[in-house]
Amino acid sequence: MDDRPDTSLVIVANRLPVRRTEDDDGAQGWVTSPGGLVSAVAPTMQSKPGSAWIGWAGDIEDTPTAPFELDGLRLVPVPLTQEEKARHYDGMSNGTLWPLYHDKVAPSEFHRSWWDGYKLVNQRFAEATAATAEQGATVWIHDYQLQLVPGMLRELRPDLRIGFFLHIPFPPPELFYQLPWREELTRGILGADLIGFQTPDGAGNFHRLAVSLGLASRDGRSMLDVEDRKIRVRTYPIGIDVDRYDEGSRRPEITEAARDLRARLGQPHRVILGVDRLDYTKGIDVRLRAFGELLADGDIHPSQVTYVQVAEPSRDQVGAYQDLRNRVERLVGEINGDFGRVGFPVVHYLHQTRSFEELLALYRVADMMLVTPFRDGMNLVAKEYVASRYDDTGVLVLSEFAGAAHQLREAIRVNPYDIAGVKASIRHGLDIDPEEARVRMQAMRRVVKRSNASAWAAGFLDDLDV
Ligand code: G6P
Repeated sequence: MDDRPDTSLVIVANRLPVRRTEDDDGAQGWVTSPGGLVSAVAPTMQSKPGSAWIGWAGDIEDTPTAPFELDGLRLVPVPLTQEEKARHYDGMSNGTLWPLYHDKVAPSEFHRSWWDGYKLVNQRFAEATAATAEQGATVWIHDYQLQLVPGMLRELRPDLRIGFFLHIPFPPPELFYQLPWREELTRGILGADLIGFQTPDGAGNFHRLAVSLGLASRDGRSMLDVEDRKIRVRTYPIGIDVDRYDEGSRRPEITEAARDLRARLGQPHRVILGVDRLDYTKGIDVRLRAFGELLADGDIHPSQVTYVQVAEPSRDQVGAYQDLRNRVERLVGEINGDFGRVGFPVVHYLHQTRSFEELLALYRVADMMLVTPFRDGMNLVAKEYVASRYDDTGVLVLSEFAGAAHQLREAIRVNPYDIAGVKASIRHGLDIDPEEARVRMQAMRRVVKRSNASAWAAGFLDDLDV
């Protein structure tokens, strides 16, 4: 690739920030997908001509193989075969590391062939990056799918400034030790100059691990020494593009859509909402059980309260996700069977990806949002809900095991393992004094605004460049 000399900033993430589109005539194209990461780094990338994003274009046919431009972003695809995807993405990333890093909420499987696939794909990402970055460029590598890339890249290009950010939790060493390849993986991350985590727990766990494996020595609370290098280990809680949600939700057509939605739900007194990827870490089943029990106990009346659960399809080639889908759909069926009326299900379940506008309307219509993960790196949905409540109304019930709980201290906090506590919190949320709700929401909105996506990206990149 010959644009190497002017690429001063390279973002490396498992996915390219794009999705496939098809117009009415069947013509296919690409648009940038407005995910959290792209909204955080796009402004910086657009202000630095020649910056590039390296990633996989996803599991679809005819993905581009050569670099291309979209909305001012230069995108460099890393193609994967079906077998590589099965070993790297479905296997090692989502069958081994994802559950291991989320407290083993589901069993973590260890397969040597998955590990081999993980190494191979990480090497390909490292080589694509080495071929793209100019001399002395800044490279920012993201997340658990690419933890070997910092070390591999340093081998290839010791001149680069390398940052690594983990978007998901980093587990306690006692759990991480189970990984048969624990040293190689840790060494991979230690290839970075700056290592970022969502919470102080994650940063502390990694710091302890690197020292206890004998791969680094401690240099104060947030530094590690590896041979002659100093590595910084810090916390950078990720934010969202607040204006997009705040301004978007004020638009008259969104207000109209929310009003229409409430009418279609049968004008319930209260609407409860959950929005998640259909993932076993999210505690969707806990919420449903708590809601079903409240109905059975007579603490909630089905004509008064409606629950909408959006569960976006995710990782459906992985067995644990298929099991969860069965469990969730059985629970929804049981609750509607027991408490619904003709034309009025009490749980509205959508196993679909909703558009941004539809999500905004849902956030606006929801009197209460349930975010009850067993473990979560941050949970941006909680922040999106808060950003959309511009009139300071609405109640957020938030698991203390979400990274967001470190910042959104005014949410109603729950332990998702304590079903009685979840029930009590839902009741509290439904009965809350409006003034108490307003004070809580105002405090959360201040925090969400302060730590928005661009501040997060700028904070990390500033630290990486010094
Ligand atoms: C989490 C991970 C991301 C990942 C996203 C969607 O937020 O931290 O790295 O991209 O989930 O999951 P998917 O498997 O569809 O990329």
